[in-house]
Amino acid sequence: MGSPAAEAIPAGTLSEIAADILREGATAAFDYGPTEGETVLRDALIAFQESSDPTDPIDPESLIVTSGGMQGLDLACKLFVDRGDLVAVESPTYTNGSATITSYEGELLEVPVDADGMVVAELVAQVQARGRAPRVIYTIPTFQNPSGTTLSLERRLELLELAAEWNAVVIEDDPYTLLRFSGDPLPSLERLAEGRVPVIGVRTFSKILAPGLRVGWVTATPEIIARMIDAKQGMDTCTNVPLQLVVAEFMRRGLLDSHLASLRTQYHERKVALQDALAHELGPFGARWTDPAGGFFLWATIPGVDSDALFSIALEQGVAFIPGSAFSASGHFNDALRLCFASTPIDRLYEGAKRLRRAVEIQLGEAQS
Ligand SMILES: Cc1ncc(COP(=O)(O)O)c(C=O)c1O
Repeated sequence: MGSPAAEAIPAGTLSEIAADILREGATAAFDYGPTEGETVLRDALIAFQESSDPTDPIDPESLIVTSGGMQGLDLACKLFVDRGDLVAVESPTYTNGSATITSYEGELLEVPVDADGMVVAELVAQVQARGRAPRVIYTIPTFQNPSGTTLSLERRLELLELAAEWNAVVIEDDPYTLLRFSGDPLPSLERLAEGRVPVIGVRTFSKILAPGLRVGWVTATPEIIARMIDAKQGMDTCTNVPLQLVVAEFMRRGLLDSHLASLRTQYHERKVALQDALAHELGPFGARWTDPAGGFFLWATIPGVDSDALFSIALEQGVAFIPGSAFSASGHFNDALRLCFASTPIDRLYEGAKRLRRAVEIQLGEAQS
């Protein structure tokens, strides 16, 4: 799954903060809050961005707190995806993202991904072939789920040029950027667009703190945010108030930076270990995998394997992964697997790779006999 490592969730600190908050201000904490988010959390997000990159501040009018990243995606699609609208998505992509698009009856335009993220030239070719441009481009440009790849700077600029030409809105789904463990950071699409193209930045505390909090945030133009606030009012009125206060206090105490630093070190070590284990166990089968510079996942392909069928064999061997076909509406990627390196300690990653090898041997052996 795509959960942080259990030991990477600062549960003790979060519980202490929650106890303090509920003791001190229980009445306010249990009341309705502003739809755009608790002021303390909004201020903490603005301050965090200011300290991370003073040249790219968040305008308070451009910010809404959401109930996780999923609500950010839902709000973006509610506003911009109507029946029959073409929506460009990476292939493979995050299934809950593409499912949200189709729930608003958008039509998916699946664009392949390579080591530099979405193949923008292929997007152009598909648009030409269809004679119709997308209304929305949904992308996870940084440490993509599921492939772990990152959209290069050149392609980011090309994608924005195209969005401007097509009058398209870009949804930048960005849960993993703060988990970069190697290489130089790239500017977000939102930053690069400089207001020329509407970019909706969807972010969440799920991967950097804890998914059960259900706290995320969206940045976009003040006009889009104002419409999102109206839409969110009719969805859930406000995001869970006590947990917004907990996250805000965690940030106010200055704990987020050191927490992120420790996650980056840990996840880097785990990625390297998983790649090493795969090289040892699956290299002999001609397997290949991506080399993410951050995030949670890598994407492995094993020639001749049917990953849907492999799944149950792997479970019998005591190892799990997500089969590639789960990340494509049109059911591609049968020889691919999404592997999460973030949530498993190093010794278990080595053991997992061994078990996966046994499962592959069983499947390929059966195929031969
Ligand atoms: C790319 C992507 N977008 C959005 C989400 C959803 O985030 P949340 O759990 O905060 O709703 C995830 C979680 O797996 C994700 O990987």
